[in-house]
Amino acid sequence: MQKMNLIMPEKIKNRLKTDFMGQKIHYFTEVTSTNDVAKELATSRAEEGTVVVAEVQTCGRGRLGRGWLSPKGGIWFSVILRPEVGAKDVFKITFLTAVAVAKAIRKMFKLNAEIEWPNDVLINGKKVCGILTETSIRDETADSVIVGVGINANIDINFFPANLKNTVTTLASEVKREVNREKFLQKLLEELEIYYKMFKENKFDSILEEWKQLNRLFGANVEVVSFDEKITGQAVNVDKNGAL
Ligand code: BTN
Repeated sequence: MQKMNLIMPEKIKNRLKTDFMGQKIHYFTEVTSTNDVAKELATSRAEEGTVVVAEVQTCGRGRLGRGWLSPKGGIWFSVILRPEVGAKDVFKITFLTAVAVAKAIRKMFKLNAEIEWPNDVLINGKKVCGILTETSIRDETADSVIVGVGINANIDINFFPANLKNTVTTLASEVKREVNREKFLQKLLEELEIYYKMFKENKFDSILEEWKQLNRLFGANVEVVSFDEKITGQAVNVDKNGAL
């Protein structure tokens, strides 16, 4: 069996062209969830842009209380942000992260990555990335925001259970070779910083325009499932708050 390369944080940092995003990286071979570790670090005042990355998560979390399969070969990471915005604006960070992921995939692999509302990134209609944003609120302001990103990078597609095989993809299976996870994470952190800075400069409208360009749903018949209801209809647009 081929030996899997481990992520080398110094290889990411050596080439990283950012002011703060990823300038501190905490690397683990195994954690419960990188969001858990990032939350603890945020509580002890870790700097904005600090990244937690792990080879494996034993309790990876997805949206809506779901689990997130996180075996070796993926890119499982969380970033600590301190955006100083009201809790109602935190969703914008998930949107800008989806744009950054789709852009990084397009630039690095020339693949047609698209966004599916609210925050999944897909290639050829199959999910390659999920984003889970968790916020700690103080006095109605976001004290810290943990942006957790899971990317199916070098995972054998046969790893996924039958019910996921038709809806999930990996970078490696799309480009038909193992991808360099350090180079991709470096690129992604650079894109993330660009869009996060735009957000801080009150340019969410421009981010939303890019998000719309990358969106694959408009015009399609959709079924939106939340905790307690299921709505069916045609996806037409999102409003300025990103609501479908
Ligand atoms: C989803 O699509 O449901 C969101 C999945 C988010 C997964 C990432 S992997 C890194 C971070 N740690 C977690 O436990 N979850 C996020």
